[in-house]
Amino acid sequence: MSQRSESGRRLDRRAVTPVRQEPRGWQARWLDANAELVRLQASHPLVDAVVEEVDGRRIRIGDHWLDDFASCNYLGFDLDPEIIEGIPAYLRRWGTHPSWSRMLASPSLYERIEAELRDLLGAEDVLAMPTLTLISGSVIPVLAAGGTILIDSRAHKTVYDGAVVARGQGATLTRFPHGDADELERQLRVAGPGPRVICMDGINSMTGNPPDLATFLRLAREHGAVLYVDDAHGFGVVGERTAGELSPYGSRGNGVVRHLGESYDSIVLAAGLSKAYSALLAFVACPPGSRRCSRSPPRLTCTRGRRRSPRSPRCCSASRRTPAGAT
Ligand SMILES: Cc1ncc(COP(=O)(O)O)c(C=O)c1O
Repeated sequence: MSQRSESGRRLDRRAVTPVRQEPRGWQARWLDANAELVRLQASHPLVDAVVEEVDGRRIRIGDHWLDDFASCNYLGFDLDPEIIEGIPAYLRRWGTHPSWSRMLASPSLYERIEAELRDLLGAEDVLAMPTLTLISGSVIPVLAAGGTILIDSRAHKTVYDGAVVARGQGATLTRFPHGDADELERQLRVAGPGPRVICMDGINSMTGNPPDLATFLRLAREHGAVLYVDDAHGFGVVGERTAGELSPYGSRGNGVVRHLGESYDSIVLAAGLSKAYSALLAFVACPPGSRRCSRSPPRLTCTRGRRRSPRSPRCCSASRRTPAGAT
């Protein structure tokens, strides 16, 4: 294969050696991350594995039957016969998936789920979305509104990613060491103008420990901040405490905020059903006064706008004036 050079001489394409540029910036990081994944994949059987069969709590990957300790179906609902048998009637009535944009319409089932979640949590308003990833990516930027996000260094990656989206929209992002309330307070004191959002996990996915919610909430309230808590692993597992309870997990599984006896004042609780409830659904529970914020179609694209007029997302800041315990 050949072509003519500017001087008209024939060039052999195979003889032209491309100048190799060393990857830099995002390319270098991308290659590094992939090299790490390839190493992990070669050394660990449960990376990007394909499960071909499930038999109770045993799974088959290739020719190997394994005991499954990797799933987060904490309540075992994924294989519950009563739940499985309950599904076909809904499928017949509603079809497999409502493909309206939620800006246009939602099946009334969504309203029912949100109402039940509201009751269970004791929160003023609950907005359901398919995944927690979507919630962090859309709610954190709305809450931050160009202000400051202060994120626990061990918050889940999806929370961090939501904060990065917010940074792309003008927010400032700072991190504090895991659980370090003193450092958080120092950062809050020097934070710039505008809303402040503190982000952290609820029940930690690795340790099972809750954060020191009382301390972080006190700081949030003192500094006019909102505390965004991702309780993916607490919802459905820990819940409100009752006199004479038999289990230290509490009851009703209504999440880390109720478990620790706090109100939703200054807290935005995000959690999901994909762990304990084995269902693809997540929700955000809004603090008192911010109901309108969650229904603001221009900023949260999954919300419904038909019966509710669009309002400013800044209404989130109204919640900071609500007295503690006013849920
Ligand atoms: C703490 C935490 N937050 C968020 C997520 C993401 O949840 P989803 O799959 O609903 O986006 C996970 C999932 O592993 C998680 O463990």
